[in-house]
Amino acid sequence: MCKCCDSKQEAVFADSNQHRLNEIISAYQGHDGALIPVLQEAQEMYGYLPEAVMRAIAKGLKIPEAKVFGVVTFYAQFRLKPTGRNLIRVCMGTACHVRGAQKVLSEIERELAIVAGETTADQRFTLETVACIGACGLAPVMTINGQVFGNMNSGLVPDILKRFK
Ligand code: FES
Repeated sequence: MCKCCDSKQEAVFADSNQHRLNEIISAYQGHDGALIPVLQEAQEMYGYLPEAVMRAIAKGLKIPEAKVFGVVTFYAQFRLKPTGRNLIRVCMGTACHVRGAQKVLSEIERELAIVAGETTADQRFTLETVACIGACGLAPVMTINGQVFGNMNSGLVPDILKRFK
């Protein structure tokens, strides 16, 4: 796709959520520590943080753009690129780690030929690691699009991934 189509798409995408974004910014304006929650809510809405959105947040909160970009790149929870159609989260918290989460993660990385933090070239999957998701009794645990898979082992990975197109 050419650059001009790209930027047009982003403009339309941003516009459809513009009103809600403005509401979020207004709700936090003037509050200490507003930046992180505003970024979290914006990411929830867009799925990631497009540049235009980060600029709008900087302007709305009267914060330098460089500070917003700095925070987004510092914290692993923020995404600068859209996710794939299916978001896999592998828990690497203590209980899951002790019960073999690394093997599960390695198997997913091998199957998808990506490492944690990446998206497959066909946009089918994005893989992330997270700290405890509060289901330690089922460790090791992973989620796909919020659906929880407990008592995981690497042998279960291929069949589970096949279910997600
Ligand atoms: S450590 Fe993985 S769910 Fe708690």
